[in-house]
Amino acid sequence: MSAFKEDGWVWTNGRLVPWKEATIHVASHVIHYGSSLFEGFRTYDTPKGSALFRLQDHTRRLYNSCKIYRMDIPYSQDEFNAAVLETVRANKLKACYVRPIVYRGYGTLGVDPFPNPVDCAILVWEWGKYLGAEALEDGVDVCISSWWRMAPNTFPALAKAGANYMNSQLIRMEAKVDGYAEGIALNIRGHVSEGSGENLFLVLNGTVHTPSLSASVLPGITRDSVIAIVKDLGMNIVEETIPREMLYIADEVFFTGSAAEITPIRSVDRIVIGGGRRGPVTKKLQEEFFAVINGEKEDTRHWLTYL
Ligand SMILES: Cc1ncc(COP(=O)(O)O)c(C=O)c1O
Repeated sequence: MSAFKEDGWVWTNGRLVPWKEATIHVASHVIHYGSSLFEGFRTYDTPKGSALFRLQDHTRRLYNSCKIYRMDIPYSQDEFNAAVLETVRANKLKACYVRPIVYRGYGTLGVDPFPNPVDCAILVWEWGKYLGAEALEDGVDVCISSWWRMAPNTFPALAKAGANYMNSQLIRMEAKVDGYAEGIALNIRGHVSEGSGENLFLVLNGTVHTPSLSASVLPGITRDSVIAIVKDLGMNIVEETIPREMLYIADEVFFTGSAAEITPIRSVDRIVIGGGRRGPVTKKLQEEFFAVINGEKEDTRHWLTYL
């Protein structure tokens, strides 16, 4: 569950303002046309202090998202990183979720976004385990969504755009109404893409597989982290086209994401995956991932930025 800190601070266009004053006008372009690009990641409470997970990589992805949509952020990436740190510090939360967002603001309401300002904000709040605390061990039941992910050359999947999340909402609502924790979308070619807010991996005969970046997926930072861990553990990882039925016969399937972290999937369309609970590879990857983000193991990959 998320808990807003209503006596906290939000960074907007270069300065911290009280949470309740961080508002925008209803005539802002973003409200009408979904013109926002954003990020989401966690700050973890470690024995060495609060640490932001892959801050620079998230900022880089934000700038890439904005580049695709021809939005110039009026700050350097270093300045933006400093603003994120300033916001986390100001809110005095040891662990939190961080949400930088860049959007077309108040100006004109034609579809053409160029006349409108590029506004930036950074907010933080406390956010528990996205798919439930038990999910990390027990796994979740998911379905294949009847909604597809965006087709190539419609909405660019590599950009983390607010508008893409209308598609995510359709996937998520359908899953919820039908009694599943989450939905997995196929892409326009009928191949496995991703969850509404998570990348997807499967393990089959000791090899780890994940859809390639051309499968209409977000280039997840957790996805990238898991790929690195898999390689470091000496296992095979393949980024490829994945047919739907490969999920059903997999030994293990799991989601990755800043919110979901590494969440095992125990069934897909009510077909039990492997032993119907977290498998050994998923467990191993979780152990390594959580040991690093919780500061229990040396951060040899330089993923953490301490406050
Ligand atoms: C659609 C989608 N795919 C994948 C991810 C996972 O990306 P990351 O690991 O960078 O959080 C997210 C999370 O924001 C997402 O919204």
